[in-house]
Amino acid sequence: MMANTPQTTDLIASDGFEIHPADETAILEEMAHYERPQAACIEALKIIQRRHGWVPDEAIAAIARVLDIGAGEVEGVATFYSLIFRQPVGRHVLLICDSSACFLTGFDELKQALVKQLGIDYGQTTDDGRFTLLPVCCLGACDGAPALMIDEDTYGPVSPGDLPGLLEGYP
Ligand code: FES
Repeated sequence: MMANTPQTTDLIASDGFEIHPADETAILEEMAHYERPQAACIEALKIIQRRHGWVPDEAIAAIARVLDIGAGEVEGVATFYSLIFRQPVGRHVLLICDSSACFLTGFDELKQALVKQLGIDYGQTTDDGRFTLLPVCCLGACDGAPALMIDEDTYGPVSPGDLPGLLEGYP
């Protein structure tokens, strides 16, 4: 129940984080589409992530202030939504789907090829800061399994042999 949601705005430091005026405007515009500000939360997080690459704790508090809701509510959405990154990531985020359709159609080979090619495992970023590799639940592209996503682009079916050409598109 909303009334029991902890209001933690004052528990999360917001020093040093300012929402870019254009982002604040975009969030307010998004809010105007809904009766409840909570409905604009995911889009607000995406707006911040688009500019900064990830969403630090301080940004959670700042978003909460703009939406005029508790930081706990924003934090809850950010935690639930796997495409919101709460730690610094590389220039490109590569998400490989490990759900059932992909698991049954070559996920393992694809993951091994990625790990070999990038020289990193889950949660790591290449030394040049180019890629971060993360697992993700079903991307909704099951008929193209095994699937992966780079930034906002979904690909599938992807074979290990496709990887060099695919990664080249993300300098
Ligand atoms: S199971 Fe991988 S995209 Fe659905």
